[in-house]
Amino acid sequence: MAHAPTLQDRFGRTIQYLRVSVTDRCDLRCAYCIPEHFKGFEEPDHWLTASEMERLVGVFARLGVSRFRLTGGEPLTRKDLPGLAGRLAALPGVEDLSLSTNATRLAVHARALKDAGVSRLNVSLDSLRPERMAAITGRDCLDDVLAGLMAAKDEGFAPIKLNMVAMAGVNDDEIDGMVAFCIEHGFVLRLIETMPMGETGRGAGFLDLQPVKARLRDRFGLVDGVLPGGGPARYMKSPDGGFSIGFITPLSQHFCDTCNRVRLSVDGVLYLCLGQDESFDFKPLLRGGASDDDLASAIRAAIELKPQRHEFREAPEKVVRIMAKTGG
Ligand code: 5AD
Ligand code: SF4
Repeated sequence: MAHAPTLQDRFGRTIQYLRVSVTDRCDLRCAYCIPEHFKGFEEPDHWLTASEMERLVGVFARLGVSRFRLTGGEPLTRKDLPGLAGRLAALPGVEDLSLSTNATRLAVHARALKDAGVSRLNVSLDSLRPERMAAITGRDCLDDVLAGLMAAKDEGFAPIKLNMVAMAGVNDDEIDGMVAFCIEHGFVLRLIETMPMGETGRGAGFLDLQPVKARLRDRFGLVDGVLPGGGPARYMKSPDGGFSIGFITPLSQHFCDTCNRVRLSVDGVLYLCLGQDESFDFKPLLRGGASDDDLASAIRAAIELKPQRHEFREAPEKVVRIMAKTGG
């Protein structure tokens, strides 16, 4: 009997999920992500074209990867992102296409993204206070972000997940306010521990989310829950099921044993782990006349390089790549 193709690594994990970074540029400068005065962006010549991305995603899908996410940098700063999304969503084997965005430009693009076949959205939002958002992101952007979120809600994206990087002494006093905001609007909240990616990530005020989880459990009477997707977040929900909150805790409780994902940077390098350097550059193959079968073999070889786990705790200095480079 023929089996559906699967992509397995050396540790028996099935890779079903590819995150595709479409740009490493961003219109914000979150303190934990991009260094001030940062100019180290790749030149556009080095970027994969939409057609190169489409081709590579098609081969991943042929190998059994079924879920894809567009990331950045800020994906909506890339020209005609909805067009690219539409091309990817139409490929055979692409069952789920989602987008991570800071939402500054979402009000303009929400409808086109929905029409293109993007079903799920993750929006980064660390504060609901205008001055604090400006301090964290380097730009007075809260009004644009909220307009983007409301446009997405009106378009019927479901679920809309709000990602909040919880930072000690920066925004940890707003966690309860964010819970209330998400209950009001039907958003899923996800609290994220700051990862030591680059100097910026290491300098951002790490907050252990285990005590926060215990406190929120008591305060809101939350019970354990699960959300489909097999991602790293551990979820709790309100007793009526109307509100879900996820905890992404790479430091206090890592989730590498069930990691199902790899990440493609905008310059065509596949990163096998957020916290390790193992990588495989597809650009020479894509630009050197490789066949789809060559690409498929290369993908299998690259997956063999996937390390067992990150070492954010043991070797926090190790990762010099910032998140905007790897693709959140
Ligand atoms: N640690 C945790 N999350 C980070 N992000 C960016 N840098 C870091 C970091 N060092 C998050 C953003 C966004 C996504 C793209 O990655 O807040 O949710
Ligand atoms: Fe931009 Fe996201 Fe990095 Fe903030 S965290 S600077 S929104 S890529």
